[in-house]
Amino acid sequence: MNKKSLPTLYWEDNCLYLLDQRYLPKKTEYRCCSSYQDAVDSIREMSVRGAPAIGITAAYGMVAAASEAIVNNYNSAEIKNFLQQASEALIKARPTAVNLVWAVRRMEKVFDRVQDNQPEEIFNKLLQEAKIIHEEDINNNRMIGTNGAELIPPKASILTHCNAGALATGGYGTALGVIRAAVEDGKDIHVFIGETRPLLQGSRITAFELYHDDISATLITDSMAGYLMSRNMVDMVVVGADRIAANGDTANKIGTYTLAVLANHHEIPFYVAAPISTIDIEIDSGDNIKIEKRSATEVTHFGGIATAPEGITVFNPAFDITPARLITAIITERGVVCKPEREKIEKLFS
Ligand code: MRU
Repeated sequence: MNKKSLPTLYWEDNCLYLLDQRYLPKKTEYRCCSSYQDAVDSIREMSVRGAPAIGITAAYGMVAAASEAIVNNYNSAEIKNFLQQASEALIKARPTAVNLVWAVRRMEKVFDRVQDNQPEEIFNKLLQEAKIIHEEDINNNRMIGTNGAELIPPKASILTHCNAGALATGGYGTALGVIRAAVEDGKDIHVFIGETRPLLQGSRITAFELYHDDISATLITDSMAGYLMSRNMVDMVVVGADRIAANGDTANKIGTYTLAVLANHHEIPFYVAAPISTIDIEIDSGDNIKIEKRSATEVTHFGGIATAPEGITVFNPAFDITPARLITAIITERGVVCKPEREKIEKLFS
């Protein structure tokens, strides 16, 4: 981000620092995670959120576990057990985004290679891998931006949902990466930001990012999207993803499916921007993606204030599935998959 560059996360002095996104835009405060359990709690409580960002956090969570093992003087078998315990807890922290398990598996592979070395060497190798995962994510987002910007007309009006920006990733963003790249190309675009109930990632985080980057943007409530589309105020929709099945069905923040149906009805292109690490080739279709259900208080309260009668029944799925047939294209770092389907998606991996 330009005016005040705030990293999503960084590792320093044996601690993972996360910009605590629960307090944005009011406070910019970093949460320090010196144990893997701190990383698990930060993911679960959404101090850090967004599929790539929680993957990177999990990778550093494994580094924190190695550091704990050194402090506790664990022997080789104890280190192995402890890291196993850490990887299980990190993977379970949030169930929908596949980046979490993807990052932990990469860290496990490194551990398998170096497990017979001295604890300090294990720690160094894990830290090196976490930093590579972090760096790669930023580079991939820049490529997603380059690939996606080509799809954006010079004066486009773009609707986005939730936050798929620098703060949902290692940096730069996926959906917002496409928007940033288009702006860097000199395009005179305008962004509509859906506020994204119940946790307002759109108004609290995307609006914060775009405002700080001086990118022309207007905040709307989620229920206004159809009206805007019916008035020809939206040229395209660009969103991120938490898990993409092999056939292109996409899990993303609750409300994404509604936007895709609306976009389809109004014949507006609907794009998903995501790195390859968000594609779960093992899962045939969106029917098999686990959707996280979150607590009722996210819906009944805001900032500690009740916005619904006590005792009301609440349903709070954090994500929904947009079927591939409603997606115009998936924008990845390896290219753009138009009219996504299994065969085309598999080619990204060859
Ligand atoms: O519940 P959240 O805030 O973690 O949900 C985030 C999203 O749905 C994002 O759109 C997705 O993770 C992509 S982030 C590049």
